Amino acid sequence: MTAVAKPTFAAQPAPPTAVRIREVTKIYPGGVEALSGIDLDIPEGRLTTLLGPSGCGKTTLLKIIAGLLPATSGTVEVDGALVTGPGPERAFVFQDFALMPWATVMRNVAFGLELRGVAKSEREAVAEKYIAAVGLKGFETAYPHALSGGMRQRVGLARALAVDAKVLLMDEPFSAVDEQTRRKFQEDMLDLVARERKTFVFVTHSIEEAVYLSDRIVLLARRPSRVTTIVEPDIPRGADADSIRRDPVYLDTVEEIWRGLKQYLD
Ligand SMILES: Nc1ncnc2c1ncn2[C@@H]1O[C@H](COP(=O)(O)OP(=O)(O)OP(=O)(O)O)[C@@H](O)[C@H]1O
Ligand SMILES: [Mg+2]
Repeated sequence: MTAVAKPTFAAQPAPPTAVRIREVTKIYPGGVEALSGIDLDIPEGRLTTLLGPSGCGKTTLLKIIAGLLPATSGTVEVDGALVTGPGPERAFVFQDFALMPWATVMRNVAFGLELRGVAKSEREAVAEKYIAAVGLKGFETAYPHALSGGMRQRVGLARALAVDAKVLLMDEPFSAVDEQTRRKFQEDMLDLVARERKTFVFVTHSIEEAVYLSDRIVLLARRPSRVTTIVEPDIPRGADADSIRRDPVYLDTVEEIWRGLKQYLD
């Protein structure tokens, strides 16, 4: 990309690889080939986005990284260790929230720690911190049915943050909210990435969202599903949302990605 303003981290050495994906193929029972030989390195401490049309295998790839679904062939390593199932260093934020409807916000957020046997007072202190971090202070005793879709997504995010996983796998976490809420979430998300220094693997349909949030964008094509292009938006971080969205580099990157995706649409 031609850069108007170089971000300060561009001069720094490349971060180590957190997730290494090699030759991952997934054929579902019934014969649908959801992934066809995916090779990908996901850098540590950055936000990487998987972007591509519906059905290109984004959720499938995220679930394989999470260890919730076995690959048909190929390997995934997290910090050099082979993924053979779910692990405490990875947390998943689901497309459809996946909250426990019978449990309060506090219990939902603390659930991962409860599973690990962390004492109640300790896990509630951690949960409280992340409930506040996602802007839900005051809703600790509320039940999911009494929350809006956007608030439920925040609960899902707080739950993933509370287990202190190194890798956060987020499947379209902002898909069910209105445009204003989504923009607010995106701003919060950038703060979170800067603050938490975790590895985020993010899935979205939105090119604008991907360019706004990501250090690295992986474009996936459908049938066969594979990585076509990797884009690293050269957008100065730390600027306010309005100036980022008017930045020529931002606008050019959105255009470039749209051209890149268009040729693979059927
Ligand atoms: N459990 C399953 N059994 C059979 N086929 C499946 C299953 N889950 C997904 N698929 C198929 O695998 C392909 C990839 O699905 P996946 O859900 O990973 O796509 P996606 O990129 O996440 O799509 P979307 O953007 O709509 O969420 C699709 O063709 C889908 O029909
Ligand atoms: Mg999906």
